[in-house]
Amino acid sequence: MMDRRTFMTSLAVAGLGLTGISGTALADANAMRHRALNFQIGLRERPWLLGWQTLEAPMVAAASNEIRVEGRIPADLKGDFCRNGPAGHEVFGHRYRHWFDGDGLVHRFRLEDGTVRHEGRIIDTPKWRAEQAAFQPLYDAFDTDVEGASVSSLDSLNPGNISIIHHGGRLLALWEGGSAMELDPDTLAFRDFVTLAPEARGMPFAAHPRLDRDGTLWSFGTAGFAGKIVLYRVNPDGSLHGIHLLDVAPTPMVHDFLITERHVVFILTPWRYDHSAGKTFLERHVWQPETGGQALIIDKDDPSQRRIVDLPAFWVYHFGNAWEDAAGIIRFDYCRYADPTMTTEAFRQVMNGEAPTGTGASYRSARIDPVKGRFSESTLIDGPAAEFPRVHPGRIGRRTDRTVMLLADPDSGVDHPLFATTAMVNRETGRIDAFVHGPTEIAEEAILVPAEEGDTDSGAGWVLQTVLDYAAARTRLKIFDATDLSSGPVAVATLPYALPAGLHGNFMKA
Ligand SMILES: [Fe+2]
Repeated sequence: MMDRRTFMTSLAVAGLGLTGISGTALADANAMRHRALNFQIGLRERPWLLGWQTLEAPMVAAASNEIRVEGRIPADLKGDFCRNGPAGHEVFGHRYRHWFDGDGLVHRFRLEDGTVRHEGRIIDTPKWRAEQAAFQPLYDAFDTDVEGASVSSLDSLNPGNISIIHHGGRLLALWEGGSAMELDPDTLAFRDFVTLAPEARGMPFAAHPRLDRDGTLWSFGTAGFAGKIVLYRVNPDGSLHGIHLLDVAPTPMVHDFLITERHVVFILTPWRYDHSAGKTFLERHVWQPETGGQALIIDKDDPSQRRIVDLPAFWVYHFGNAWEDAAGIIRFDYCRYADPTMTTEAFRQVMNGEAPTGTGASYRSARIDPVKGRFSESTLIDGPAAEFPRVHPGRIGRRTDRTVMLLADPDSGVDHPLFATTAMVNRETGRIDAFVHGPTEIAEEAILVPAEEGDTDSGAGWVLQTVLDYAAARTRLKIFDATDLSSGPVAVATLPYALPAGLHGNFMKA
């Protein structure tokens, strides 16, 4: 673990960098208003853009008698399916530039005794409250430069909009540019930012922490302005075990990472922070494929021990799982993009009412030999778009064969270019058990809820996911038998409203 003084020095560097994040350059209330008009025009021609319409109401709720259920909700499926994602895409008529900019909508399907009810709210972060009081946007976002914005800390602009987890007795909404934030478990209201240690106040905390078998939560934060990645090890009770600062300069965009039994693995793509490259955080990342990427392999027990293995150039948001085989080879599955144009093009285009362009991902199975420094891989799903891989939550860091994920295929017969298929992919047998949703349904992340407690990996359980039916203007919860997706959902619960397309969720058993 690092010494305190080194950490504080690094934070001071980070603080200096922060002054440059504010939008002192020209920006763009006019562009934000114009974008809102463009979106409404685009929505008439492309009704599936409903997935990126701003949520007007700050709170939503539906009692069980207001939710139409087809089929039967399994009586033994008890708990909360919580989700998060950007939904406040406009602030008083000012529309953000990027999908990942807007205020987070946290929402919860509560399943008990075969019934479901639903509630959600735009998280009432300090940022959201200040902007509501001022009737205008006040803070820069991931990819929107707001005129006159000032930044006192990363958390002053934290929209908490990427994921939601339960750990150490706390319900946490996660961004990745600032702290985790604790929510009231009943009302989902903002409580406070989580400070794991005084010296880590306000430091970035990822949206994709990894839960180890003993309940330890591993996470990280990238501080490109400081040339660091912060590695967090959080005890099962939510207290901090330790923080380690990793020198990774220039620092790439890192959205997700991996753990195995013995290691923490960062895949460092050649999409790297350069403060001079632009005004927004996204603009400040430069794609440098000619230099390739690297795997940074850290010893869990001694983070000062590190190995680096060279990789080809690719971009990745999400990994399936990772483990070490008997020969010490690190195996991992991931969604490989040839470049980050999905982020730099598609997710701006949908916000502006345009059809998305950008390179989709294939699903790959990779091997890294940390001793010989070799990387190799094979293709599990050859695109054109495979994303949101999720595995058995009790098997993170150990071998798993089943991954549930979303696929987009132009031949699937749906009326939109987005994810339309939910698939269970067995990496060992190659079997794909898939279900194609309705022609006007956009599939969102599907998660695996095992039937057994603990780490038993029999395959039995449920797959839960939401879909947005843009023609009906309704969001639906679908529940599948995890062993038989292709027969269709065992239950479909239709909310009396539509929610914007979200990102990540988790199930918390009652
Ligand atoms: Fe993600």
